[in-house]
Amino acid sequence: MAESVDRLFVHCRELVTLAEGPATGARRGAAMRQLGVIADGAIAVRGGRVVATGPTERITRDYRATDELDLSGFVVMPGFVDCHTHPVFATTREQEFHMRCAGADYMAIAAAGGGILSSMRAVREMPLEQLAARTERHLWGFAAHGTTTVECKTGYGLSLVDEQKSLQALQRAAGKVPLTTKRTFLGAHEFPPEYRQDRDAYVRLLCDEMIPTLAPHADYCDVFAEPGVFDRAQSERILVAARAHGLRLRMHADEIQPMGGAELAVQLGAVSADHLGRISDAGIAAMAQSDTVGVLLPGTILFLAKPHYAPARRMIDAGCAVAIATDFNPGSCHTQSMSLIQTLACSQMKMSAEEVITAATINPAFSLQLDHEVGSLHPGKRADLCVFDMPSWRAVGYMFGGNPVVMTVKDGVPLSANVVEQRPDWSSPRGAR
Ligand code: NIG
Ligand code: FE
Repeated sequence: MAESVDRLFVHCRELVTLAEGPATGARRGAAMRQLGVIADGAIAVRGGRVVATGPTERITRDYRATDELDLSGFVVMPGFVDCHTHPVFATTREQEFHMRCAGADYMAIAAAGGGILSSMRAVREMPLEQLAARTERHLWGFAAHGTTTVECKTGYGLSLVDEQKSLQALQRAAGKVPLTTKRTFLGAHEFPPEYRQDRDAYVRLLCDEMIPTLAPHADYCDVFAEPGVFDRAQSERILVAARAHGLRLRMHADEIQPMGGAELAVQLGAVSADHLGRISDAGIAAMAQSDTVGVLLPGTILFLAKPHYAPARRMIDAGCAVAIATDFNPGSCHTQSMSLIQTLACSQMKMSAEEVITAATINPAFSLQLDHEVGSLHPGKRADLCVFDMPSWRAVGYMFGGNPVVMTVKDGVPLSANVVEQRPDWSSPRGAR
């Protein structure tokens, strides 16, 4: 007798499960290339969770449901896990983009009071309701691009009340959008104007007031560790204080100038070290021996027109746990497309198609302590899916500039964000590809 479930997704042209490898933990080296692809695949879902995956023939024999969705023609993978974003902002900063295109430098714009501080002014001025609505719109944008789990940083308030407002806006927005979200307190994103003459006083405010007050409302604490912003000693003080208040640690590390950021992240037991365009050999060696995930953000390097993409190949070959993410923010990378990030990861960082799938699903899930819930289609995990209009999973990264995601499924429910009615025909003139 067939077992009854809520819904069946059937006839996926290819179903990428990542279920050949272990359900939890980060995947390193050759294990990043084990995808578990099922031709004409199907998924049985009950209570929003994966019950089973397999060939459609077997799944439809073993399971029955009144609700059956035919996905013939489409490639299906686990929903994207975007583990580094800054969605709590009020206004865009396109003028800075064009200033950079005309020759201005990102850090010089920031030093002149633009950059993060201009976003800070906008966030401080915007009422909570409106900031929550903006943030909600940004979250729907992730969903439309196939992201089902997203890490969200604050960092444009830079005062106790404005960081609190940012966390509240995030909480309200997250309550309205069916995505799995994690919250990161990034009060150490920049020094606000009122503390620019006495930077250590802002570090004290962070450690003694902001972190103790806001830690219950966040999952992680992050610091923009960069020469000219938070130096090594300041970053360490802030992160140690955050850890003492129960927050796990993430870090903007070695982005523009090398600073031993990766080494510090490992030393502090951070769950991730992010950017890493200028990571040192010692940093790579330290990360390879640790559970600190290297979150690479090639969209930012592209958008800022910087020369140093993170050395993904060397990191993967050394055994580091590597993830990729959008870094969606109003200044240095305004994209929500993990598909575009996969293109850059392949073409600029020389990652393989298999690696950029693993780096966008199970590895970022591990960095968010959600690997038991999302990131692969093992039975028991959330039925979070990304449905692609592409001929094969191998076309990942290849189609760029548009959105190859035609449907996002969260907890077994298709979101209507971007469903297309027309079925693709990917057959070649002579039949089989
Ligand atoms: O990750 N590096 C610092 N923070 C962001 C940029 C934020 C901004 O410019 O608004 C980043 O690139
Ligand atoms: Fe960032």
